Amino acid sequence: MKPIELAKNIYWVGAVDWDIRDFHGYSTNRGTTYNAYLIIDEKITLIDTVKKAFHGDLMHRIHNIIDPKKIDYIVVNHVEMDHSGSLPQVIEEVRPEKVFCSKMGHRALLRHFHREDWPYHVISPNEELSLGARTLNFMETRMLHWPDSMFTYVKEDQILISNDAFGQHLASSERFDEEVNQDVLMRECTKYYANILTLYSPLVKKVLAKVREMNLPIKMIAPDHGVIWRTDPGKIIEAYSRWCGNEARGHALVIYDTMWKSTEMMAKAVADGLLDEGVNYKLLDLRFSHRSDVMTEVLEAGAVVLGCSTLNNGLLPRMAGFLMYMRGLKPTNKIGAAFGSYGWSGESVKLLNQAMQEMKFTICHEGLRVQYVPEHEHLKECVELGHTVARSLKAMQAGKEIASVI
Ligand code: FEO
Repeated sequence: MKPIELAKNIYWVGAVDWDIRDFHGYSTNRGTTYNAYLIIDEKITLIDTVKKAFHGDLMHRIHNIIDPKKIDYIVVNHVEMDHSGSLPQVIEEVRPEKVFCSKMGHRALLRHFHREDWPYHVISPNEELSLGARTLNFMETRMLHWPDSMFTYVKEDQILISNDAFGQHLASSERFDEEVNQDVLMRECTKYYANILTLYSPLVKKVLAKVREMNLPIKMIAPDHGVIWRTDPGKIIEAYSRWCGNEARGHALVIYDTMWKSTEMMAKAVADGLLDEGVNYKLLDLRFSHRSDVMTEVLEAGAVVLGCSTLNNGLLPRMAGFLMYMRGLKPTNKIGAAFGSYGWSGESVKLLNQAMQEMKFTICHEGLRVQYVPEHEHLKECVELGHTVARSLKAMQAGKEIASVI
């Protein structure tokens, strides 16, 4: 097998996980990769490792290039187990001179692996590390994705090794951006941002600003998941700039769960109302759309209309689970409204409104409840709700201030 070279003497030595389908609640239908990088210099350096089960793949790739025992340094950009699970075995086999990590990374490594005896070197702010012909710069990127996260920049080659940031869960035989289908690539990047980074958008904004301020020339971005941005790193930076700014587009989502299809009838009528006013929509039934795919749609939607029947004085469990997931990710800058059918108590609309209030959505309608099965007149009210959402969305897109009605 030929080693995969990013630049002269800088190699990809990671692993491809074709089988993973669930990444702590995020559906990874296209698998993923755990990327690690090997730099051959006076000080031979391994940047990140892989998930424990893929340790053999990592060592095999390194063996194809050098004897792993020759590795001098290991850089741990992030302690989450998909990047450090095989670290104890690697350290055992390699016996590196130093293990570089951030201050928070040091704490996290101790709490994960309980090894005081590893040769840690905690990087200080703006520290530079010479490997011989090359220099590494480190940049702490707390909460992208954990408190310990950092980037490593290879100065002479202008390669930013960005760990979780700028990645995608995409297993492929190709390793570089221009080699894969661009629609699939950007779809997976969107899903990754929506499900992992939405909550940290203010921090993403700061990191992007810092990178711009440092004026780092970036020839390549090498994340720890998915393909390496060799041809068009600007494409993913531009997308992150848009996503972290919570820029909403002019379309709406109707997200619902239904018990006996009454709420579904209402959902379709709301959607008709949106379309009457020229707003495109997607109708997402939580029985058939995975929460992480729904969150991918939420990222750029301008309006989110939630529908749910009442069950046991509360919400249907799929909607309750989805709301917990969405509230954790804290999407912002959305128009919201709610509807639902009920039998006798009818709390669902109130609960949906509460959830949207917590997320600071601009609620444009007090909500619509229908007992048991809607009649034509009820469905007309749902269409009207769709009109109200559409008009509010268009006003928001035009830059007008809109106040919540509740
Ligand atoms: Fe890919 Fe936060 O680990």
